[in-house]
Amino acid sequence: MYIISLKYIIMNKATRKTVIAGNWKMNKTPDEAVALIEAIKAEIAGKDTSGCDIIAGVPFVDLAVVAKAIEGSPIKLAAQNVHWAASGAFTGEISADMLKAVGAEYVIIGHSERRQYFGETDETVNKRTAAALAAGLKVILCVGELKEERLSGITEEIVAMQVKLDLAGVSKEDMANVIIAYEPVWAIGTGLTATAEQAEEVCAAIRGVIAKLYDETVAEATTIQYGGSMNAGNAAELLSMKNVDGGLIGGASLKAPDFAVIIGAAQ
Ligand code: PGA
Repeated sequence: MYIISLKYIIMNKATRKTVIAGNWKMNKTPDEAVALIEAIKAEIAGKDTSGCDIIAGVPFVDLAVVAKAIEGSPIKLAAQNVHWAASGAFTGEISADMLKAVGAEYVIIGHSERRQYFGETDETVNKRTAAALAAGLKVILCVGELKEERLSGITEEIVAMQVKLDLAGVSKEDMANVIIAYEPVWAIGTGLTATAEQAEEVCAAIRGVIAKLYDETVAEATTIQYGGSMNAGNAAELLSMKNVDGGLIGGASLKAPDFAVIIGAAQ
């Protein structure tokens, strides 16, 4: 049974969407954002990028100008957070409808920096995910273990728990609009990349969790990215792994030539 389903997963890597997403974090004013998009467009001009979806995850204030700048290009637009309420007294927050209105197609939810620095919990990640999907946004849901958790040998349990709690109530149909980003917290912005084998192991485990929560078909169709110090030098190896269907890229997404190399590695 295990061998059969594993074979099926290998066979189906080619049919899953590879997604290369930049997470710009708190970088770039609107003018700088447009300049970076233009630089990325210039890098990929004339190249076949049909092998992957390309996403730029930009600060809220850059969404509107970037939406315009990407017109006619293969680049798609993501926000980096969303509130779960439709509107109301939530000072400093942004709703899913607001994101859609300025042209966002995707939203990154549950990034470890939000969990670490801004009190994000699996409960709030779940509420944000439900609201985003209900509004018609696609979700890049981030999960990943802390260094101590990896050292304690509980990585797969931690990540499985996050996936289950974060996706609670998400329907099978809605899973078509969910990308999972596996981002080991110890690898984010540290220059410490998970080995391709470590990334593969956890991405495969996540696929197994999705199969249990939904079914094999959903698991096989779900894009599971790796994130954490992915760069121009290591992307090809990470992306060659059976269960690694793309990348969520921070630092290297701010350099157009490097981001273009990663896009190239995904073809
Ligand atoms: P990094 O960030 O590529 O700079 O490690 C990845 C992320 O936080 O999504």
